[in-house]
Amino acid sequence: MRDFQPKTIIEPFRIRSVEPIHFTTAAQREAALAAAGYNPFLLRADDVLIDLLTDSGTGAMSSRQWAGMIASDESYAGASSFYRFEAAVRDITGFRHVIPAHQGRAAENILFTTIAKSGDVIPSNTHFDTTRAHVEHNGAEARDLVIPEARQPQLIHPFKGNMDIEALEQTIQTVGAERIPAIMLTVTNNSGGGQPVSMANVRAVSQIARRYGIPFYIDACRFAENAWFIKIREEGYADKQPIDIAREMFSYADGCTMSAKKDGMANIGGFLALNDDALAVHCRNLEILTEGFPTYGGMAGYDLEAIAQGLYEALDENYLRYRIRSIAYLGERLVAAGVPIIQPTGGHAVYLDARAMLPHIPPMQYPGWSLNNALYLLGGVRGVEIGTVMFGLQPDGSEQPARMDLVRLAFPRRTYAQSHVDYLAEVIIEVFAQRNSLPPYRIISQAPVLRHFTVQLEPIRN
Ligand code: F0G
Repeated sequence: MRDFQPKTIIEPFRIRSVEPIHFTTAAQREAALAAAGYNPFLLRADDVLIDLLTDSGTGAMSSRQWAGMIASDESYAGASSFYRFEAAVRDITGFRHVIPAHQGRAAENILFTTIAKSGDVIPSNTHFDTTRAHVEHNGAEARDLVIPEARQPQLIHPFKGNMDIEALEQTIQTVGAERIPAIMLTVTNNSGGGQPVSMANVRAVSQIARRYGIPFYIDACRFAENAWFIKIREEGYADKQPIDIAREMFSYADGCTMSAKKDGMANIGGFLALNDDALAVHCRNLEILTEGFPTYGGMAGYDLEAIAQGLYEALDENYLRYRIRSIAYLGERLVAAGVPIIQPTGGHAVYLDARAMLPHIPPMQYPGWSLNNALYLLGGVRGVEIGTVMFGLQPDGSEQPARMDLVRLAFPRRTYAQSHVDYLAEVIIEVFAQRNSLPPYRIISQAPVLRHFTVQLEPIRN
């Protein structure tokens, strides 16, 4: 027979264990959201139909991961599960020291407590909110230097997560290399729309870092998705395997922080990996204080097993093709319906441009929050605001509009199928049709840092 190239990209797995999702009425959702102080973080998950709050720790594990977990070694020190974990991390990242941590922010805590101090500046393309909070908690400044193209949501650019190399060099010259303990690069750039960073950009950041003698760390949460974008969008990588692309990416850096809840395909876990022997000693000492003995670092042996296997599964080509395609598919349907989104679609999520969609709601009355709540009220869908509620509160207590007001719909890995995505498109397009009726919001109470997790709001009704 003739060779046949199917156009349909299918889920590269079959399902052997299922979990019911919960249907609610509009009245039930209205009551649940009001009881949660209009903060979707405070909803019970059982009141959510399709949960796109985060792709972090929410994915499905494979039968191989479960098999590894059953066979785990729970020894306090020197467990074989740790050595399997360490070997996998070393194999993929090439870094010498592997310091386990219970999640990404725990790795950030160890790193920044060890290297950052008052008066320092840590540049990144865009710091994720926990990264920024840890940098600031240690008295340093977290500075975002993403390329200007990233600030135009509808502008098509293949690597909108790239660092602005000129701005980086200028920053180093103005601040002084001695006040920059590290340069970070977030791959993919979560807060900037899940946008990838090109290999050329990783290389350029690395060259500058080396020239000035500044350590260079990758925030590697979504390294496999970033590797896939390099493969399909950057010249010279089409024939390379994602694992080799990932290895090359890491080879330009001195270390990385990782939340294994993303491309580690696990429900919990993370690590700090680095080459600097002296720094590793300091980090391990702090780890013992905050996370536990260095061969488990806040995780059970079975978590280490899940990650050791999951890191490789995240790099599987069939998986990555399906994953990136399902995000792009939703994006295409929304664009065709005129819904403003960040383009092109990124790795783990679709980002709705609430500021463009709801011009009648000023940024200080939280258009992203309003849009996200409308998705829940209409369709039982939970996303997350990435905008003025998340980023508007400044360290000095003042408030200003975030750069963009977005709603992120993040896809748990290997969890939802195509019909869920079709349903989602229908809900979003219906909210878009009713957009002029969405209310502005005001904040009633808030925490001084990371306020979005617990903030209480109310809709402003005329
Ligand atoms: N860095 C990035 C780029 C992240 O996206 C996250 C988490 C972290 C660090 C921290 O990792 O949660 O394991 O402590 N992002 C999640 C999200 C919470 O929803 O995007 P963690």
